[in-house]
This record gives sequence, structure tokens and C-alpha cells, in this order.
Amino acid sequence: MTTCSLSFPPQINLASLPTPMQPLRRLSEKLGVELYIKRDDLTGAALSGNKIRKLEFVLADALGQKADTVITCGGAQSNHCRATAIAAAMLGLKCRLLLRTPDPSNPPPVAGNILLDRMAGAEIVWISPQDYQKRDELMAREAAALQETGRSAYPIPEGASTALGALGYVRATEELVNDITNTMGGAHQPCTIISAAGSGGTSAGLILGAKVFDVNARIAAVNVCDDRDYFIRQIGTICENTIADYHLDIDFDRQRDIEIIDGYVGRGYGLSRAEELTLITEVARTEGIFLDPVYTGKAFYGMIEELKRDPQCFGQRVIFIHTGGIYGLFSKADELAPLL
Ligand SMILES: Cc1ncc(COP(=O)(O)O)c(C=O)c1O
Repeated sequence: MTTCSLSFPPQINLASLPTPMQPLRRLSEKLGVELYIKRDDLTGAALSGNKIRKLEFVLADALGQKADTVITCGGAQSNHCRATAIAAAMLGLKCRLLLRTPDPSNPPPVAGNILLDRMAGAEIVWISPQDYQKRDELMAREAAALQETGRSAYPIPEGASTALGALGYVRATEELVNDITNTMGGAHQPCTIISAAGSGGTSAGLILGAKVFDVNARIAAVNVCDDRDYFIRQIGTICENTIADYHLDIDFDRQRDIEIIDGYVGRGYGLSRAEELTLITEVARTEGIFLDPVYTGKAFYGMIEELKRDPQCFGQRVIFIHTGGIYGLFSKADELAPLL
């Protein structure tokens, strides 16, 4: 049931849905709250994680525009780029990835997500952090160059965090309504939904989805890079563009509706602290669930630290969205091994 009408644009089916929502029994007992995890890491195997929900809309648009190639960008171990490379292979599209690395003349080893990118046939263009600042311009240039050779390229902005991509998590909220009804005993049980924020599209979709589907939920995100102000701008812009593009009759206010749990970036984007890796291992051992080092591990760590400070800071029911990223663990084996 929606409180405002939204007609979703075409979507292709890539994700295995619905994903399960599971109670984290041992951690809940330890912390004194009802902690649940929405297993969006199980949207697929190699093609898994939150990006699949966004790509269902974005790639439908690319196919609608008769593209034969998709171009996207991210960090060297980008989950979004891996998901795009695999989805492109499934759809018979070519894929070009602009991946960020400190020294493009000396690219990182073919491991983790990079291995899967390469195996799925993606063409990788290594770019420096300085060039990455101009990623949209570089992708437009790559698209124009392909155009000249008779190909038709479709650039996908970082993380597919556009108004169209955010619809993936508006739609996921519809699924969460069922999860909340089935596992918490009623759709109107208040809860807090927490996820990692990297490029902001997941959080934007959840914020709008909660309004569209009238979910009694506080939506919060732990930023894994940058800071609160950056994400208020980033998520605010995606929300406002989505509202405008899809004519949503929604009351949205950046400062009121976007809650960022800042303070857990730690050593920086993609860099881990021992305490984060220790928690990832603890969750694997106590719940059999693997968080990733770059996004979900940091966000989960932030959430647990906040709960340790005040067990009721998010209310009695908390849902953590596991957005995937398991392949990032393999590039951290050297840091994880001494902790085991
Ligand atoms: C595993 C994982 N979790 C969370 C995120 C963050 O999602 P978003 O970019 O939509 O903020 C990403 C990507 O950035 C990701 O790869």
C-alpha cells in the first residue's frame, strides 16, 4: 500500500528477491535490543549486494536506449563496478570500468572484485585519484569515443546513485514492509533502519521508500567516507531529483529527514582499523554472516558502538541492511589473518 502514487519505470529482473530478514539473536541478547539483518548480500552470488536493486532500473534504461556498452566508475575494489560488469555480461552488453588507483601505471593485483571484473570481460581503465575527481567528464569522453566507432555507450554515475537508481531502494522498502509485518508482528511497529552510505543512493531510496510506503521507521546511515555535511548534500540531491523526476507528492526536508551517524570513517575510505576487522570476525563467528571491510563492516561497527553507548539510542527494534561486498574481504586477507 502506498501513501503517494509512484509508477515505477521499466525494471529488469536481476536480483533474487525477496531477500531474507533474520534476527541476530546472540548480538541482540548481548546488546539488549532486537537486532535484525536484511540480507541484501543474498541478492545473488557473484552478482550480489545493494547495487543489483539499483541496476535493475538503470540497466533497463540502458537497454531501452539501445546501448551496447555500459561505462561506470569506482574504487579499485568497487562492488558496484563488479556488479555492473557481471550484469552486463548477463545481458550481452560490453562494459568499461574507470577504476581509481594511486598509481595507474602500477595497477593493483587481479584479486577480489578486480578478478571478477576481468573474468566477466570488463575492460578496465585505471585512473588516478586526481582524474577521478573528473569522473563524469571522463566517462562522457569515453562514451563519445565509442560513439565515433559506431558503438552506443551508456554512462552510469558512481554507485548508480541517481534518481533512477534510488528507485531500487524505494522498491526494497515495499519488501521491508512485509519483513517488518512478518518478523516484528505488524507493519506499524516502530524501528530504525541502518545502512552504510558510500554514494548515497541506498539511503536516498530508503528515506523516500519509508514515506511512499508509510513505514514507521527512522532511517539512518553510517558514512564510510567524507562527513555528515557531504552526505546531507549528496543524499538530499538524490532525494530531491527523485521526487522531481517521478512526481512524488512527498514532504521532504534535508535536515529533518537525513540522519547521518558520523564518526566511523576511521582511517579513511577503504582502510580498516583492527577493531573493525575484529568485529567482522566476531559477526562471522557468532552469526555466520560475513560483513565487508569497506562498507557494511564499518557501518555495523558504528551501529554497535552507538548501541554500546546507549542501548536504546535507536529504539527497541533495529534493522541493519547488509548491502553485500564479501569479495572485498579477500583483498584484506593479510590484515585479517593475524586476528584469527
Ligand atoms: C557493499 C556496499 N555497501 C554499501 C554501499 C553504499 O551504498 P550507496 O553507494 O548506495 O551509498 C556500497 C557502495 O557504495 C557497497 O558496495
